[in-house]
Amino acid sequence: MLPEAIATYAAVAKEAGGNPSSIHWAGRAARRALDDARDKVADYFGVEAGAVVFTSGGTESNNIALQGWLNQQPPGGIVSTRIEHPSVLRPLERWQQIGDSPWRVTLIKPNRGGAVAADAVVAAIGEETRMVSIMAANNESGVIQPAAQVAAACRERGVAVHIDAVQALGKLDVRPLVQHADFVSFSAHKIGGPAGVGGLIIRRGRQLQELAPGGGQERKRRSGTENVAAISAFAAALGKIDFAAISPLRDYFEQQLQQRIPQASIIGGECDRVGNTSLFSIPGLEGETVLMQLDLAGFAVASGSACSSGQRRPSHVLMAMGMSPTEARSSIRVSFGPEHDPSDADALVAELCRVQSRLRAMRGG
Ligand SMILES: Cc1ncc(COP(=O)(O)O)c(C=O)c1O
Repeated sequence: MLPEAIATYAAVAKEAGGNPSSIHWAGRAARRALDDARDKVADYFGVEAGAVVFTSGGTESNNIALQGWLNQQPPGGIVSTRIEHPSVLRPLERWQQIGDSPWRVTLIKPNRGGAVAADAVVAAIGEETRMVSIMAANNESGVIQPAAQVAAACRERGVAVHIDAVQALGKLDVRPLVQHADFVSFSAHKIGGPAGVGGLIIRRGRQLQELAPGGGQERKRRSGTENVAAISAFAAALGKIDFAAISPLRDYFEQQLQQRIPQASIIGGECDRVGNTSLFSIPGLEGETVLMQLDLAGFAVASGSACSSGQRRPSHVLMAMGMSPTEARSSIRVSFGPEHDPSDADALVAELCRVQSRLRAMRGG
C-alpha cells in the first residue's frame, strides 16, 4: 500500500468511522468521505458519480456484472476469452453446465504471444449473444487486449459488454474502456490501495439483478455497509503510481536476464504489454522450484502454475497460449513497482543465475 493510502485509511477510520447510511453526525462524516471518494473515482474514469459502485474487489465486481446481468436474460450465447481471470471463467462455467439449457459459452483463444484478436471476438457475436466479457490486460502475461475495440463493436450491435479492467487500472487509459462498455471492473490493490476494495462502473440505464440482497446500499446495486476507510484509501492511491515510468526498469531486467541466461525467453514480449509485468521461462527449470529458491533469497515472484485443491496445475492462460504443460510450469512472473530500481533487477538476475547453477549441480550437470 502506498503511504498516502495508509495515511488516508488511518485518518478516515479515525475521523469518519460512522456508518454512511446513518443520519447522525458520525454517519454524515462517513457519507462525506464516501461521496468525496466516489467523485474522485468518477472523475478519473470520466463518468458521473452515480455510475460508480464500490465492491469488495475485482472478483465481486466481475461476478456482479456477469451474474447480475445474465441471470435476468433469456438463454442465449456468451462470448469471452480463454485467458480471463477465474472470477470471470468460473461463473461462465456455470452457464455452460446448466443442464440441457441452450446457453452457449464461446471462449476465444489468444495467439501464441497471449493477445486475443478483436475480430475473432466480434465474429463470435451472434443474434442470441447476451453478453461479451473481455479483460483489458492479462494478469499473467501483462498483454494488452483489444477491449475498447470489442466494446465499441458490441455497442454498435446492441450487445452488453463487460470489461475486466483490474490489471489495466493505472497502466492504460481507462476512459476509452468506459466509453462503450456497460460494466467495467476494477480493484484497489493493483494500484497501491488496500486489498478487499474495488468497484464496478455501470452504464446509466443498465439494471443488474441484486446478487446479495440486503440494505440496498450503493443504490441497490451492492448491499452492505461501505468500507469507507478502504474506499477513501483507494481514491487516495488512484493515479499515484506512474506505471509508465516502471517499464524501462522491466525492459532493463529482461535485457539483463537474456544476456546472462540466453535460453530464457520472454513470454508475450512481442505484444503490447502493461509496463510492470515480466513473464519468462527458463527451459529445464521448474517455475515452482525457482520461486521457492527466490523466496529464500527474499524475492516474491509468481510461477506459471496455480495451486488448487493441493494440485499444481499449469496456468490456463499459458495453456491457452499453446504452451505444453512443461513449458507452462517453467514460467515465472515478476512484477515491478515504484519501490524498485535497477539494482533490484540486477540482484534478481544474479540470483536467478545462482539458482540455475545450483539446480543444475543438483541434477548432476
Ligand atoms: C484480471 C483480474 N481480474 C480480477 C481479479 C480479482 O481481483 P480481486 O483480487 O480484487 O478480487 C484479479 C486479481 O488478481 C485480476 O488480475
